[in-house]
Amino acid sequence: MTDQYAVIGNPVEHSLSPAIHAEFARATGQDIAYGKILAPRDGFRESVARFRGEGGKGLNVTLPFKQEAWQLAEIHSGHAREAGAVNTLKFENGTIAGHNTDGIGLTRDLKDNLDCPVRGRCVLLMGAGGASYGVMEPLLREQPQQVVVANRTLEKAVALVARFEMLQKFAALGVSARPYSALAGARFDIVINATSAGLADGMPPLPRDIFAPGALAYEMVYGRRTLFMEFAAAHGARPADGLGMLVEQAAESFFIWRGVRPATAPVMRALRMKAER
Ligand code: ATR
Repeated sequence: MTDQYAVIGNPVEHSLSPAIHAEFARATGQDIAYGKILAPRDGFRESVARFRGEGGKGLNVTLPFKQEAWQLAEIHSGHAREAGAVNTLKFENGTIAGHNTDGIGLTRDLKDNLDCPVRGRCVLLMGAGGASYGVMEPLLREQPQQVVVANRTLEKAVALVARFEMLQKFAALGVSARPYSALAGARFDIVINATSAGLADGMPPLPRDIFAPGALAYEMVYGRRTLFMEFAAAHGARPADGLGMLVEQAAESFFIWRGVRPATAPVMRALRMKAER
């Protein structure tokens, strides 16, 4: 029988996940169907229960339900426990397991697709919301030189850094929180935009000399060239959007569900070609 999966969110209409997972299933010969569930903002648990009751095997969870999914999960993978957020649910043996594959998606995209190792590099992570929480642990495990978290509301960056305090040992110079105004004079090899500013045609207030020579500017938003990407290109950095992260996190979810690792490069190529058309 075909196993059922879906992405659940609000909104969810424009999600690329069904197309990505359909391609993974085709390429690996897995018999799955993957749909979309628009859950009411106050109806996440009910929607999950209905899907599970109908025999659903697993869900990808997107905004705004990642924290609620964490609460719903009965067991958590390491990454999910640290992040406090879940993007992948697996229903198995009567339990709900929660995973977070966002951070692995980012680090794989950096290392494997963009040829940008994190180890020994100086990283600036902008934003202190759910997206930043999701990627901190896998980023630190790559052993960067340092990670600076910048946020408009400094207290939120301070809270994020405190949460990952025990992982500071992975970065030679440690992890610190700063307001944007305290970035003057600093240079970074990898600058990651995990804020939602790009969605509203804005960008965080970065000094123009923030990029070290050969720096990568990573925008978590995908499917459009944001102001941050334009800014990066104009100031000597290499801009990258978040499409690779999206496909890599999907591949990791697929692996968690099916035990098979799909190739990501052909899917990424196909999505880019479609976007350019
Ligand atoms: P998510 O869960 O997707 O990360 P969020 O929790 O709403 O979403 O967090 C959004 C992040 O983008 C926050 O760090 C926010 O900064 P504040 O904490 O100061 O609100 C950041 N953000 C949104 N718009 C921004 C802008 N124009 N400039 C800088 N940061 C911005």
